[in-house]
Amino acid sequence: MNQNRILQPTTIVIFGATGDLAKRKLFPAFYNLYIDGRMPKGFNIVALGRAENTDELFRNYIKENLESFSRKKVTSEDWAGFQAHITYFQHQLDEESSYQNLQQKLQDFDAVYGIRANRLFYLSIGPNFISTISNHIKTTALASDPKKDRIIIEKPFGHNKQSAIELNSLLAKTFEEEQIYRIDHYLGKETVQNILAFRFGNSIFEPLWKHKYIESVQITVAEEVGVETRGAFYEQTGALRDMIQNHLLQILCMVAMEPPASLQSGEIRDRKVDVLKSIRRISPDQVDHYAVRGQYGKSTINGVDVKGYRQENGIAGDSNTETFAAIKFYLDNERWKDVPFYVRTGKKMKEKHSYITIQFKPLPHSTFSDSPHLLSANRLIINIQPMMDIRLQFMTKKPGLTLDLKPAEMIFDNFACQEDTPEAYETLLQDALLGDLTLFMRSDQVEEAWDVVTTIQEAWENNKDLSFPNYKAGSWGPEDVNALVERQGHNWV
Ligand code: BG6
Repeated sequence: MNQNRILQPTTIVIFGATGDLAKRKLFPAFYNLYIDGRMPKGFNIVALGRAENTDELFRNYIKENLESFSRKKVTSEDWAGFQAHITYFQHQLDEESSYQNLQQKLQDFDAVYGIRANRLFYLSIGPNFISTISNHIKTTALASDPKKDRIIIEKPFGHNKQSAIELNSLLAKTFEEEQIYRIDHYLGKETVQNILAFRFGNSIFEPLWKHKYIESVQITVAEEVGVETRGAFYEQTGALRDMIQNHLLQILCMVAMEPPASLQSGEIRDRKVDVLKSIRRISPDQVDHYAVRGQYGKSTINGVDVKGYRQENGIAGDSNTETFAAIKFYLDNERWKDVPFYVRTGKKMKEKHSYITIQFKPLPHSTFSDSPHLLSANRLIINIQPMMDIRLQFMTKKPGLTLDLKPAEMIFDNFACQEDTPEAYETLLQDALLGDLTLFMRSDQVEEAWDVVTTIQEAWENNKDLSFPNYKAGSWGPEDVNALVERQGHNWV
């Protein structure tokens, strides 16, 4: 991973620099890296936009947004230093001459650095532009040095397995695999990275991390927000594509992977692909047994009327898009034989809470079988957000004259250790500047992850769910989701 490497002068080119992601995540991340002294000594951010604009106006716009979205306070001193690195560049995505002008601009920066700098192209634009941009980058030789030039691609990476394969081969015409950084921002989250440290930095958990001791694993990513302004995008996407194919499967990989031999990016990514390959594929007639979908309907939350999904902007009145998805996965390998991995995610749920639950098996025989208190099996909860902690639940003696038991909890609070936790994008952008691919998705990972969800995706697309809307905004999802786990004698935690 990214320890102790020296950053080379870099020119960062942001396609879609006037968009939402750039103002909320990218510029704040670069700004915070800058304050922390983690940007290269020589760097420039070239912000591409279609409209005419000046550096000054664009910088002011960025400053206003930093005030809302930056983790660290915007001080006049830091801002004065940072803003000088931002250049606005008017650019038309489909005009070759625009790329030639950009090439000239980058060469001008190189002349000032005194070397051919690294180039980092950030594609913060809709997926339908990737092909145009990638082709122009090739014909104008903007990324001509595979050792120095990199491209970052935002999700969604394709909309199914076939389109992901096509996108991969299209990118391969311009870039080598080592130049391509496919972002899944969940991998940049501190608490998700901590799964690696927790599992492989301790000797006491790994021996228990297998089917012999673990009964089930649950991964929940519940969101309180709805589709907000992204109705048109979401209507074509749905929870399975938007969250499970990427974020939840990546978390599952971190929980389930075999110990990597080293922290080399290739090694870690290989182990994750192994997990994806081992996930049992199901047939179309098994979809209802393994997966549940939902769509939120209108509701009243704290006295306020809340719209249902079908009433949101850009959504069809009879939409078949799922805003909630839950799936039971099995991994056909030695470690996880017969252990269900339940994953669920949804919009407009009761609260924002992402967490992993490792449910250990009950004791085979209890010395305390006469105790008036039921024994709870041990459980490990890894809270990803907004809480960032790890909780181990176990039984302990109730203080007193009798030998009664009660459940207790041991908590490691990530927040308490380090309040100033970097944002996922800071980690990921720093890694991209350093040329560290560990936290990015390799082509085979993306394709395999699509393969895992294909059957469910096709079944849901081709069969309208007549029960939609089937959960109320502000609830924990459709009722059917309970049956998914109860069939195995389990409960959602
Ligand atoms: C994005 C999805 O990838 O992740 C969004 O497209 C979702 O729909 C978001 O809201 C959740 O990210 P986070 O970091 O807020 O949990």
